[in-house]
Amino acid sequence: MNNIHPTFQKLITREKKEGKLKQRAKVFWFTGLSGAGKTTLAEALERKLFDLGYLTQILDGDIIRSGLNNKLSFTKNDREENIRRIAEINKLFINCGVITLCAFVSPTERTRHIVKDIVGADNFFEIFVSTPLEVCEHRDVKGLYAKARAGLIPNFTGINSPFEIPKNADFTIDTTVETVDECISKLTTKIVHLINY
Ligand code: ADX
Repeated sequence: MNNIHPTFQKLITREKKEGKLKQRAKVFWFTGLSGAGKTTLAEALERKLFDLGYLTQILDGDIIRSGLNNKLSFTKNDREENIRRIAEINKLFINCGVITLCAFVSPTERTRHIVKDIVGADNFFEIFVSTPLEVCEHRDVKGLYAKARAGLIPNFTGINSPFEIPKNADFTIDTTVETVDECISKLTTKIVHLINY
């Protein structure tokens, strides 16, 4: 880092901003295969938290990759860069007192560690959406699994690129066993004390 002198905002602190919003900032990180239900769950959680009076921001792989990160591919290096940038964005939201709901495949322990390191372990809550590959592939909402099986998508997670089961998830959701409403209700009960002011 040459000739760069970052000064961090010291006057209006995170604590003051959290006080204004009457909430504690936190990163809720949904990891899992494409089609596992990460975005659906993040959106349902946002609705629930909004109704309870919390201010949140969703960050989602398909959206970030069609804007900010649209030059990044799905190689190991580009996935790590994708996640590193998203972690940096999360830091800004945390410092603003805002709760983030992040839906990213983040397929390796290393990618998830990158986030944890950048945002800080205390700010990070990992949710594993454990929907099995067979179910995701059967749903194939975006038609990507069929394309990947046909050899049209390189490095497709679960098909020709690995997904490492999270070893340290704070919460695991299996959408094949419970409804989205049931999952969100349990998750909310588990997390609400973390964001209460
Ligand atoms: S990550 O691996 O870098 O964390 P990210 O969550 O940003 O992935 O983006 C995943 C989304 O991109 C998937 O939901 C899917 O719609 C799309 N996608 C396109 N190509 C791939 C691929 N090779 N592997 C996984 N997802 C892909």
